[in-house]
Order: sequence, then C-alpha cells, then structure tokens
Amino acid sequence: MKSFCVLVTLTTLVAKVSAHYVWPQLIVGGSNTSTWQYIRQTNNWQDLNPLTDVTSADVRCYDSAQSGTASTTTVAAGSTVGFTVSGNPSNLYHPVVNVYMAKAPAGTDVSAWDGSGTVWFKVYQISAVTDGGQTITFPATGLAQVTFNIPSATPSGQYLIRTEHIALHSASYYGGAQFYIACAQVQVTNGGTGTPGPLVAFPGAYTGNEPGILMNMYYPIPTSYTQPGPPVWSGAGGGSATTAPPTSTTAKTTTAATTTTTSTGSSGGTGPTAPQFGQCGGQGWTGPTVCTAPFTCKASNQYYSQCL
Ligand SMILES: *[C@@H]1O[C@H](CO)[C@@H](O)[C@H](O)[C@H]1NC(C)=O
Repeated sequence: MKSFCVLVTLTTLVAKVSAHYVWPQLIVGGSNTSTWQYIRQTNNWQDLNPLTDVTSADVRCYDSAQSGTASTTTVAAGSTVGFTVSGNPSNLYHPVVNVYMAKAPAGTDVSAWDGSGTVWFKVYQISAVTDGGQTITFPATGLAQVTFNIPSATPSGQYLIRTEHIALHSASYYGGAQFYIACAQVQVTNGGTGTPGPLVAFPGAYTGNEPGILMNMYYPIPTSYTQPGPPVWSGAGGGSATTAPPTSTTAKTTTAATTTTTSTGSSGGTGPTAPQFGQCGGQGWTGPTVCTAPFTCKASNQYYSQCL
C-alpha cells in the first residue's frame, strides 16, 4: 500500500512537467528553412499549447486562427525532409510521432486547400517500445527535429505534409493526450506511380479512445503499444491495404520478440535501408527490413519493428 501511494505521488509529479512545442521550420535539402516559411503558422505559435480535441477540424493543421501565408516549396520524391522542434523543453518529451501526407485535389492550389476529406496517408512514424510490461520507452525522446523520406513512389503534385507529436504523459484520461501538429506545403517532383494508402480523414482518423491515445503510461506499465492511425504506406503501387491490422488478435506469443536484423552496410545491400527510428518490420510491412548502420531492427510488437 505504501509503495502504491509513493508511486501515485511520483506519477502526479511527472504528469505536471510541462512540455509544449511548435514545429516551425521545414528541413529541405538538409537545411532549416525560415520559421513559418513553408509551414502554416499554427494557433499555438506563441503559447505553444497542445491540441487535445481530436474531433476538432484543427486536428488537421491546427491553423484555424491564422491567416495562411505559408509558401510552397519543391521537394523531390525520394528525398529527405523534416520538421524542427521548438519549445519547452526544446526537444520531444514522452512522444510518439506520425507524419502524414495528402495530395491537393486537381485544380486546387495546396496553399488554398484545407486538407479535408479521406485523403491522408502515413509516411513515417516513431512508436513507443514496450517489453511486455517491464518498461515503456520513447525512442523519439530528445529529438530536436524529425526527418523522413518522401516515398519515391509518391506521385508528383502538391501536398500537405502533416507532422504530429502525441505526448502521452497525461493521457490516462480522455482528452489528456497532447497533440502538437503542423502542416507544410510542398510540390513533389520526380514522383512515382504508387497509390498511397490506406487513406484516412482528419478529423476521423482518431476517436481519442484508441489504446495508443487513451492510456496510462505509468501504472500498470502497458505490455504493448499500438501506434494510432493506419500503417505507414509501404510505397507499393497497390496501396490496397484496405484494412489496418486488427488491434488485438489472439496474442500468438512469438516469444522471440527481439528479432534482430543486423545491418551489414558492406554486403552490397542493394535494397533501401530504414533510417534510425524508422519502421523495419511488423505484420503487413513490405518496406525495408534492414537498418541503416549502425542501427538494428528490434520488434516492439507483432505489428511494428523499429531501427534502434
Ligand atoms: C535546425 O533546427 C534544429 C531545431 O532547432 C536544430 O537542432 C538544428 O541544429 C538546426 N540545424 C541546422 C543545420 O542549423
């Protein structure tokens, strides 16, 4: 009983640590562009406060109170882009990260588009890592920027790129998870012929009751973590992964939960490699399974393995 009380007190203290951010700069060609140059200025650009209502239209780009003066920059399919983190602390805290893209309808300039409709596909994520209830860790902790590849199969055209950091330290009650969101405007060139998917809408993708959004990360420590949203688009042409994997199948206890694929940078590895924190495996995953050196592929759960 006593240790339970101590734990509750500690948990309360931890939950009160404030952590607030914005994503002000798009990283293009390895350089930080100017603040709010290609990223729509978000409602929290001064107070840094999170969005907590996932049913609000602001869950799209969190920019309803702003005037929309961002420019559109050009990025090649297959290239690396990113978002910088700015706030207090100046790096991510108890985070999971999702990055989505959505193509502006033909004839609509992306700068005038609100991102409505079932149009968003996920291109990147950084999940939490669990080990059956002993610990939960957040590999994105401490990042001052998040970078990822525009899938080379992405068709050319104008897109919004929406990044999302979900902070889970207060997520044990409905509406407690904190969302830090921003949208960049890009023109993708040299695109491929893939069919991005599965597609989701914002609002709509989340109810707020998902096990990866409404959760107590402290006690009891979750035995697994289910990343919110659809799986990352594999870059395949079909894009026909119409159904996300079920969140709970009868846990077929594949005990060797730490499949470690060592990246041997030297062995003429012709295929693409997954970056640090990138997905490298999991049920339904058809993307790269080898990590960029020196990272190794570790399974978080049956749906998700990550380069750590
Ligand atoms: C870009 O911004 C991030 C976040 O502020 C910072 O950590 C990084 O050093 C910057 N990169 C360059 C090249 O200035």
